[in-house]
Amino acid sequence: MLTLVLAEAEVELVPAELGYHPVVIAHARQRRKQPTQILLDSNYHHAAMNNLPEGRRRGRPDITHLFLLTALESIVNKRGQLNVIVHTRNDLVITVSPETRIMRNYERFLGLIEKLFEKHVVPDEKQPLLSLQQNKPLKQVIEQVQADEVITFSKDGTSVSLPDYFEELKKRKKRHLLCIIGGFPSGTFHNDLKTIPTNVVSLYPDMLPAWTVASEILVNYGNLSR
Ligand SMILES: C[S@@+](CC[C@H](N)C(=O)[O-])C[C@H]1O[C@@H](n2cnc3c(N)ncnc32)[C@H](O)[C@@H]1O
Repeated sequence: MLTLVLAEAEVELVPAELGYHPVVIAHARQRRKQPTQILLDSNYHHAAMNNLPEGRRRGRPDITHLFLLTALESIVNKRGQLNVIVHTRNDLVITVSPETRIMRNYERFLGLIEKLFEKHVVPDEKQPLLSLQQNKPLKQVIEQVQADEVITFSKDGTSVSLPDYFEELKKRKKRHLLCIIGGFPSGTFHNDLKTIPTNVVSLYPDMLPAWTVASEILVNYGNLSR
C-alpha cells in the first residue's frame, strides 16, 4: 500500500481581513458567492495578498488540483494500492476516496473544494468521495495511517535513487509506505520534521513541483509489483 500525503497544502478560504479588498469582492461577485466563501487564490487575489503574512506562499489550490489529478489517475490507484490525503496549512484534512474523479477544469475544482469546506463532505454522506476533518495536525495524520515507513520528500534531504530506495524497503518487508510531499510553492515545512519519525530524501538537486514528485513516487512504487 502507498499513502501519499500532500502536507501543508496552501488551500484555505479567503481570510476575513481580505474580504473587503476590491479584487476579492469583484471575484466573489463574479462567482456569485460571499468573499469569505471562496478559496484564497493568488491567481486572482494577488493584489490583495501583498500585506498578508506569508502572502507569497499562500493561496495555491492549483498545486492541490494538479497533485490530485496525478495521483487519482495513476496506475497505482487503478490497481487499488493508493490512499490519498491532503493536509492544509490550517490543519484541515481532506480524505480522498480512490474512486474520486477530479474535474480537470480548475474553476469547477475550486467550486468542489468550496462546497467541501461548507458541507464537510461531497457529494453527500451516502457517497462520501471527499470528506473534511478539522484540527488534525500533520503528526496525528501520519500516526493514524500506521505505515511501515514514513518518507518525507525535500530538495534538502539525503539524495536517493528512488527505484533502489524502494527496492531496499521492499527487501526489508516495509509494505505500507507513507510519502509526504509539501503542498506549498516555496519555503520549507512549518512542521518540525524532527518530531515525526521520518527519513527525509531528495530526488534531484533542484526544486521540483509537488506533482512531479508525486508522479516519480507513483511510477517507482508501481514498478515494484511488476
Ligand atoms: C515546490 S516544492 C516546495 C518548495 C521547497 N522550497 C523545496 O525546495 O522543496 C513542493 C514539494 O515537492 C517536494 N520536492 C520538491 N523538490 C524536491 C526534490 N528535489 N526532491 C524531493 N522532493 C522535492 C517537497 O516535498 C516539496 O515540499
